[in-house]
Amino acid sequence: MAETLSGLQAEVTRLREEYKRELAAVSSTTELEEVRVRWLGKKGNVTQLLRSVGSLPPELRPAAGQEINSLRAEVEEAISARAAEVRAREQENRIREERLDLTLPGRRMPLGHLHPLTLVLQDIKRFFIGLGYQVVEGPEIETDYYNFQALNVPRDHPARDMQATFYLSEDLVLRTQTSPVQARTMERQKPPVRIIAPGKVYRVDADLTHSPMFHQVEGLVVDRGIRFSDLKGTLAEFARALFGQDRAVRFRPSYFPFTEPSAEMDISCMVCGGRGCRVCKGEGWIEILGSGMVHPQVLEMAGYDPEDVTGFAFGMGVERIVMLRYGVDDIRLFFENDRRFLARF
Ligand code: DAH
Repeated sequence: MAETLSGLQAEVTRLREEYKRELAAVSSTTELEEVRVRWLGKKGNVTQLLRSVGSLPPELRPAAGQEINSLRAEVEEAISARAAEVRAREQENRIREERLDLTLPGRRMPLGHLHPLTLVLQDIKRFFIGLGYQVVEGPEIETDYYNFQALNVPRDHPARDMQATFYLSEDLVLRTQTSPVQARTMERQKPPVRIIAPGKVYRVDADLTHSPMFHQVEGLVVDRGIRFSDLKGTLAEFARALFGQDRAVRFRPSYFPFTEPSAEMDISCMVCGGRGCRVCKGEGWIEILGSGMVHPQVLEMAGYDPEDVTGFAFGMGVERIVMLRYGVDDIRLFFENDRRFLARF
């Protein structure tokens, strides 16, 4: 410890060098705090030096005290200046580490798909809604009356064999067709009627192209002066909207108990263009729906006057249309919900 003023001054000079060196080496607030304690703390270098003043002759003490206090002020100031630098540096580092690159691509969530049946049903609805048709629905558990009798198929009618039926009781069936919605609609509503009725139907049938549950879309138009040409024009336009403008259509005579005359509509095969291939079984034509002029008896049973109004009706299988449009060859794919299949559409 210094015993003379010059000795003390030499010591202060040495300490000055030392604290500067230490401060320059500091790189974090923690280290800086250690330096502060080592110099300004209770047992710190400056504090100890101040204590040693007591061992100097009294006349030297004020000058010595002044010398040390100014060192103290100097150290305090240097520490707080350094603190600002260190804090700024630390802040910069933190910001650099926490930086987010907003231009990095995000993690992709796998998107779901609309079911192919839904997609085609949307197209069918869009076409008819565009022509002013209303979309109506009916029950899947149906009475024998609406599913058959109101459509001109009495209990003993051989046409019942056309549709293998799930009977729930003597009078209740799982509807085999969406045609009962025709009868229900006409009972509720006066002409003009312009509706389509999409929905599930059920038949005792299962193979590559038949499923016990499948979907149909029914159509019905009744008004004064509706003619077969209205049926042809509407359905031909529909076929082109759904299968492409260059599709040819043809109408073949057919039989349905609830229409007279009846016709099935074919479109030219969209795989071979009509030359004949596996899909159209060499025919060049593919059947896509049944249709006809509403039977006068059906109009009458619904409370309409067949002398006053006429109508046409049609019905199509949605699975069949999807299979044709996308080349699906097994109907079960629609109901297994294998995501690899669904993702194709
Ligand atoms: N319901 C018939 C079926 O399931 C399809 C059908 C044919 C509906 C002719 C009609 C129609 O409205 O006029 O086979």
